[in-house]
Amino acid sequence: VGEPKESDFRLVEEAVPTPGAGQMLLRTLWLSLDPYMRGRMNAGKSYAPPVGIGDVMVGGTVTKVVASNLPGFAPGDIVEGRTGWQDYAVSDGVGLRKVDPSLGPLSTAVGVLGMPGMTAYTGLLNIGQPKPGETVVVAAASGAVGSVVGQIAKIKGCRAVGIAGGPQKCGYLTKELGFDAAIDYKNEDVGKALRQHCPNGVNLYFDNVGGDLLDVVLAQLARFARVVICGAISQYNTTTGIKGPSNYLSLLINSARMEGFIVFNYASRYGEAAREMAGWMAAGKLKSKEDIVEGFHTFPETLLKLFRGENFGKLMLKLAD
Ligand SMILES: NC(=O)c1ccc[n+]([C@@H]2O[C@H](COP(=O)([O-])OP(=O)(O)OC[C@H]3O[C@@H](n4cnc5c(N)ncnc54)[C@H](OP(=O)(O)O)[C@@H]3O)[C@@H](O)[C@H]2O)c1
Repeated sequence: VGEPKESDFRLVEEAVPTPGAGQMLLRTLWLSLDPYMRGRMNAGKSYAPPVGIGDVMVGGTVTKVVASNLPGFAPGDIVEGRTGWQDYAVSDGVGLRKVDPSLGPLSTAVGVLGMPGMTAYTGLLNIGQPKPGETVVVAAASGAVGSVVGQIAKIKGCRAVGIAGGPQKCGYLTKELGFDAAIDYKNEDVGKALRQHCPNGVNLYFDNVGGDLLDVVLAQLARFARVVICGAISQYNTTTGIKGPSNYLSLLINSARMEGFIVFNYASRYGEAAREMAGWMAAGKLKSKEDIVEGFHTFPETLLKLFRGENFGKLMLKLAD
């Protein structure tokens, strides 16, 4: 209930396990910290089951194979998967994919070339369907997903307008990532700024935040707009119930569409997307920023950075070289 706190977690030490037949032992190098983790701490129905009391907390990882009794995996291989908040994991390989180190630094396998990057790519292109010349607005724009959404929008010939908290993040969007405009929702009237930066309305809104911000953007939609519901980070720690949009009739007035999605729906397209995005990175069209924290002992304060806007870029823990 509410914000995660230290007493919700236990740090347990035990012997490193030995892999059995058909298994391998993995050493965690990088652990991704993501807003969805908060959802896994709730009882109740979601798109994935919650973590049980006493279970290892879920989490996306980049790991190195230490020992293997599993055909196709050899010591030294780098794999990406969801082996959770632990230094070592035994795996039968299900749900893991080998990382191609030639595509980028290993950490990008849980960042721009991993789940958050895939979220931006598939959500924007499949659900949002941007067309050249359109105005794309994205919230939490300096973060792991949002920063990639805005840059892909630019690659596709759109105008990109980012909403982020504070002048430093807004400056990063326009000066380093090539966004056409940035709106500091903590210090500006967002409705007024949207009217200024999107004079013909918002053709595509990629929502990572929900709550009041969603309502403000709904009021500025253009005809036939698409609203992509990717996340609602402003609502994940609520103790008073999720706040839904009251401006939803804007969808009717503008013949607009609002649609949610889960990145895993597009798992079959990850390889293709990662290769295309790696190409954009090599060409200097796609940049990524990582916010790296070292070691387990920083939990859960590090996770809370996401909900306080204290991360600047993709938040991840470094556990080993
Ligand atoms: N649908 C899917 O499959 C899928 C997959 C991955 C992620 N997501 C969603 O995508 C969103 C972004 O995730 P991410 O990993 O890229 O995180 P992120 O943007 O790197 O970090 C979260 C950011 O959210 C902003 N934020 C936090 N509380 C806020 C509030 N109350 N109001 C406005 N902004 C707030 C903060 O930025 P500021 O400093 O700018 O406020 C914070 O830095 C989340 O909603 C997440 O659940 C969905």
